[in-house]
Amino acid sequence: MNVSSLPESQDTGTMEGQVPTESREPSAVAGVDKSDRRVQRMFASIARRYDLLNHLLSLNIDKSWRTFTTRTVPPEPGVPVLDCCTGTADLALAYDRAARGTSPIVGTDFCREMLEIGRNKVHKAGASDRVTLVEGDARFLPAPDDTFGVVSVAFGLRNVSNTVQGVDELVRVTKPGGKVAILEFSRPRGRLLGRLYLAFFRHVLPRIGQALSPNDDAAYEYLPRSVLEFPDGQAMLDLLAERGLIDLKQHPLTGGIATLYVGTKPATGPSIAVAARPDP
Ligand SMILES: C[S@@+](CC[C@H](N)C(=O)[O-])C[C@H]1O[C@@H](n2cnc3c(N)ncnc32)[C@H](O)[C@@H]1O
Repeated sequence: MNVSSLPESQDTGTMEGQVPTESREPSAVAGVDKSDRRVQRMFASIARRYDLLNHLLSLNIDKSWRTFTTRTVPPEPGVPVLDCCTGTADLALAYDRAARGTSPIVGTDFCREMLEIGRNKVHKAGASDRVTLVEGDARFLPAPDDTFGVVSVAFGLRNVSNTVQGVDELVRVTKPGGKVAILEFSRPRGRLLGRLYLAFFRHVLPRIGQALSPNDDAAYEYLPRSVLEFPDGQAMLDLLAERGLIDLKQHPLTGGIATLYVGTKPATGPSIAVAARPDP
């Protein structure tokens, strides 16, 4: 498939501790509104300060998590990479650096304001001929089946209103034998770090976030709530196995504040239910 033929939009150029319950379908959990409109509006309102807050609140550690992702799940020369929920394109650009210009990189996101900032960064990096940002919903990815050698998503799957549908789409567009890499916040494994983190995440982070990036959607309260209600560790691996991925591994990072989950699409063909598009 020629990834450069994907339709580019014409319009536009962060963290909790030990929690007892784990949910398989976070969108079904009462309390966190993950409706598309709310999530889109929330990211639109924080887009301009998103990178600053990300790097500040993580003390720049988020950059090393993305580098770890591209090293652990490296691009194959000449084989396209998809970064889903790419936002401001940090992981897409990290994959471009890792590929040294040998692989086309596609980033998708449904928030134009985030993509606009991403496009400026791609332009500044001189990567416009290799990195294409496309507007699209993670539940209905604008790409054919079996296309990408690596499909990544960083801190994005948690926000998709239907996690299972999101995972199925990641698997659908991955080539047989290709890899799915999911980087997501998780709950620190140690008791002390877990408590400290929980306190920071619940009480400090929302205040800093709201002060530096004022928004009407309480985006930095949504962050810890959505993380705490999202499958973590073995629960995430079980979900990925159910959706047809094999050779599953988890890599806890920085004491388990974030985790990289990696799975492979079987070379013999997927055993997953492909996400259905709604009737027109
Ligand atoms: C926390 S940001 C992560 C951005 C980037 N991946 C990073 O590592 O910084 C989450 C992104 O997911 C996007 N997103 C959430 N739900 C989505 C969906 N259903 N389809 C496409 N993008 C979605 C948001 O617009 C936002 O840009």
